[in-house]
Formats: sequence, structure tokens, C-alpha cells
Amino acid sequence: MISLGIEGTAWNLSVGVVTEKEILLIESDPYIPEKGGIHPREAAQHHSDRIGPLIKRVFLKLREKNLYPSDVDVISFSQGPGMGPCLRVVATAARVLALKLKKPLVGVNHCLAHVEVGRWVCKVKNPVTLYVSGGNSQIIARRGNYRVFGETLDIGIGNAIDKLARYMGLKHPGGPKIEELAKSGSKYYELPYVVKGMDFSFSGLVTAAKRLYDSGIRINDVAFSFQETAFAMLTEVTERALAYLDLNDVLIAGGVGANSRLREMLSIMCEDRGAKFYSPPKELLGDNGAMIAYTGLLMYKHGYETKIEDSAVKPDFRIEEVEVNWD
Ligand code: ATP
Ligand code: FE2
Repeated sequence: MISLGIEGTAWNLSVGVVTEKEILLIESDPYIPEKGGIHPREAAQHHSDRIGPLIKRVFLKLREKNLYPSDVDVISFSQGPGMGPCLRVVATAARVLALKLKKPLVGVNHCLAHVEVGRWVCKVKNPVTLYVSGGNSQIIARRGNYRVFGETLDIGIGNAIDKLARYMGLKHPGGPKIEELAKSGSKYYELPYVVKGMDFSFSGLVTAAKRLYDSGIRINDVAFSFQETAFAMLTEVTERALAYLDLNDVLIAGGVGANSRLREMLSIMCEDRGAKFYSPPKELLGDNGAMIAYTGLLMYKHGYETKIEDSAVKPDFRIEEVEVNWD
């Protein structure tokens, strides 16, 4: 079976095509803001200008593999959570494709897709997933359905990093730049470490790090201190979830998962406890169409289909709302 998936909840407009066995292709047309952060309307305008050409490109590439639009069995799309205007563009494109090709439609939870694509490519059955992106920071595991065992009480870690980066004059997205700067940081300045039970918070940390920067501290040391503090918080809560749930595998998901210092901290923690750390390749960590295509296929095979009248977008869609009937 072949599934075509469309992702576009925020910055990355991306289409993926997968079978049960492999990813056939991923084609993306990301929105990169000229200045500042992501503007939902601007991003949606970008997505609506580019979705047609992007889908054409996907079908041309499929033809090189001797596959035609009629060979696609399922049209999947990310239904939420995400920015309303962006989600609506994606849902409209998916409905048009499904109707035109006369194929079933499957609306996919974006967070679920981050987790499922990781489980698939890393071949890990029952991990604690640390899902760290721009808009989300959650610790997720299965208990029947998926449950969130800990999460940010305010902003996502990626947004926190991007905010600090922007304040220090760096262009969006700030994650990779802060990572680079932190590598030549050496002096640690204490910053608010906020873990409340299994939850955590980053906005106080951002404010304090901005103050540090304003006081003339070297930018490398600000980046270093920020990363050490934020990532230690995430690692602590992930470890607590492993202990509480009595699990031995950690899976990383989301764009911030590309950060080598975060990965190092998680690996050390796992090694200390005799647990294993898993990461999908970088192209599958951040938002991408293949994760939507794969999860749509998985759901379709387990009896899911989204009728057109039920395909309205869900900007606040939570992973717990998904009824999980697969292993
Ligand atoms: P979601 O809708 O799931 O919240 P998203 O739209 O934020 O996803 P992702 O691609 O999952 O998209 O994550 C993007 C975030 O990842 C940005 O905040 C970016 O700064 C951050 N990021 C990317 N690379 C790195 C890195 N090397 N270190 C830290 N953060 C990074
Ligand atoms: Fe994402």
C-alpha cells in the first residue's frame, strides 16, 4: 500500500510518500520568515502559494519510479495541533486530492506522527518519547492510548530557544545557531531551573537569559548556560518517566532533537540506567511529510478513515484524543 502525506502545521510544508516498508520520497518547501518568528498568516500564504507546485513535483518524482497518482491508496494530512490558517491550507489540499483521485482520507495527529515514525524507523516498541519541537515539549508513553506524562507549562523548548536567539540578534530558526555558539561557551551562569513534578517551564529561563545577555556576558556563555539548564530539566523528567513507568527505551522526536548536547545528555542518562537511546535520522526529527504519510497508513490499516465532513482542522488536537488500536 502507498500513502501520500501532507504536513504543514507550521514552518515546513512537506509531502511524503511511503509504503509499509520504506519511505519513497520526501519533498519540502519550507517557509522561512524574513525577520522575526513565524507569522501564522504569512506561513499560510506561503503554504497556499506552494502546495500546488509541490504536489506536482511529488507526482513527477513518483513517475520516475513508475508510480502514478492512481497508485496512491491513502491521502493523509496533519489535522492538528498547529496554526489554524496553515492547517486549513493543508486540509483543503488533502480533501481536493482525495476527492479527485477517489481515495480515502486520513486526518493525522501531528504529535502522534512524530512518535510513530520514530518507533517505525528505530524499531522500538514501547519507548518513553521526549518530543521537543518549537511549539511542543512533552514526555509521552503508551498506556493503552498515548498519554502525556510531563510537559511544558508555558512555551515549547524550541520557541524558547528561538526567542532568546532572536533577542540576541540571530535569525530564525535559532536552534542550530545557539547550539554552535554554546560549543565555545565554557562558563556556566546559574539560570532558573523550573521542574514542577513531571512538568517544566521555560519562559522564566528565557527572561533570565536575556538579562544575562544584557549584562554583557559573552554570547557563547549565555547560549551554553541556557542549553545546560533547559536540557538538564528535560533529561531529569525523562529519567523520572523511565523509572515511574519501568521502561528501558528513550526515543527522541521533534526538531530540537537534532541538538547534539541534548542527545549527549540523554545518552549519558540512559547509559547510567542501562536504558537505550534511539533517534531517527535528522530529516525525520523535524516536521516532514513522511511521518504523516506513515501514520496515516498505519491508521488506515487499522480501520481509520476521515470522512470529508469530519476533516475540519483541530488546532488544539491532543495526542491523548487518538484511539490507538495498533501494537
Ligand atoms: P511542532 O508543530 O511539533 O511544535 P515545529 O513546527 O516546531 O513542530 P520542528 O521541525 O519539530 O517544527 O522543530 C523546529 C524547532 O527546532 C525550532 O524551534 C528550531 O529552532 C529547533 N531546532 C532545530 N535544530 C535545532 C538544534 N540543532 N538545536 C536546538 N533546536 C533546534
Ligand atoms: Fe512538529
